[in-house]
Amino acid sequence: MKKRSLSGIKSTGTPHLGNYLGMIRPAIDLQDDFDSFYFVAEYHALTSERDPAAMRASTHMIAANFLAFGLDPARAAFFRQSDVPEVTELAWLLSCVTHMGLLERAHGYKAAKDQGKEKEINHGVFSYPVLMAADILIYDSDVVPIGRDQIQHLEMTRDIAVKLNLAFGENLVKLPEALVREEVAVVPGTDGRKMSKSYNNTISLREDEDSVAKKIRTMPTDPARVRRTDPGTPSICPVWQFHLVYSEEGRKEWVRQGCTSAGIGCLECKQPVIDAVLEEQKPMRERAQMYMDDPTLVRNIISDGCEKARELASETMRDVREAMGLNYG
Ligand code: ADP
Ligand code: TRP
Repeated sequence: MKKRSLSGIKSTGTPHLGNYLGMIRPAIDLQDDFDSFYFVAEYHALTSERDPAAMRASTHMIAANFLAFGLDPARAAFFRQSDVPEVTELAWLLSCVTHMGLLERAHGYKAAKDQGKEKEINHGVFSYPVLMAADILIYDSDVVPIGRDQIQHLEMTRDIAVKLNLAFGENLVKLPEALVREEVAVVPGTDGRKMSKSYNNTISLREDEDSVAKKIRTMPTDPARVRRTDPGTPSICPVWQFHLVYSEEGRKEWVRQGCTSAGIGCLECKQPVIDAVLEEQKPMRERAQMYMDDPTLVRNIISDGCEKARELASETMRDVREAMGLNYG
């Protein structure tokens, strides 16, 4: 039997190149060999989203992008988190075996607290990792493709799963593994920091080719390379991260040699990256538009995915309810 892969992405805004390289592409690559389940995490988005129209628009946009990037609904189920309300039931059951101390260590919660936003933190932010554990455990997931920033959530999911199994039965839920691809674990944004919606440094399919090219052309490089004649160090240059993804060995060697000897300039080095990103995006851009313009098609795909997801979720819930004495016996 195939192993199961599962991942989710919050419905906040438009997916960007960091999401694509770090999570979406690795997830789609698994669809042949894994029983794959991918979803839009609206419940998680609700920890901050207050605009229902934006929620709907982002959900549609993410689905259209996932399909444009190559998700094949015949091989992978794509659905909305809220199509499977059982997940919120499991989240409650898990919260009863999850210690406050574990949640107090979560990066997201700690960051909000450290920024002095304690009064604004809602309970959804605090219990975010419990809902994420429910998402993962309810589908008996084996692997979870994610970027590096989600690793702590995966570790917490495993901790919560161990607690549940200890309390209510060995092997009641499966312990999942994070799948993080090293070369894309943290894709840099246009300012050199991690590409993220919250930093406003993203590249996405929504922009036209000129905007994408300009963003890469003006990206910061090795800060020690002030003049064209200064030699550089690829390993500390954000553009090098893109060569690791898009260039074959010969071109990487051209960059290594050229940069460290000041033989090539940063603009020259960026051009093949610009070409590669635009070439990759071209057919995706067209497909994304096609799906954006056909909400009924997207809705039907989501509805099929939901059916598959719900079937699995109800099996898990039957076992968990029984183990907890929530059945009539
Ligand atoms: P954002 O940080 O822009 O809000 P999300 O939290 O919605 O992105 O991330 C969705 C998925 O994409 C997660 O698995 C996350 O780890 C991955 N991801 C996000 N940004 C990056 C990045 N810059 N590099 C690699 N993976 C990323
Ligand atoms: N927390 C993830 C993010 O911010 C989204 C997410 C929700 C998720 N549930 C999940 C990812 C389950 C993997 C598995 O990106």
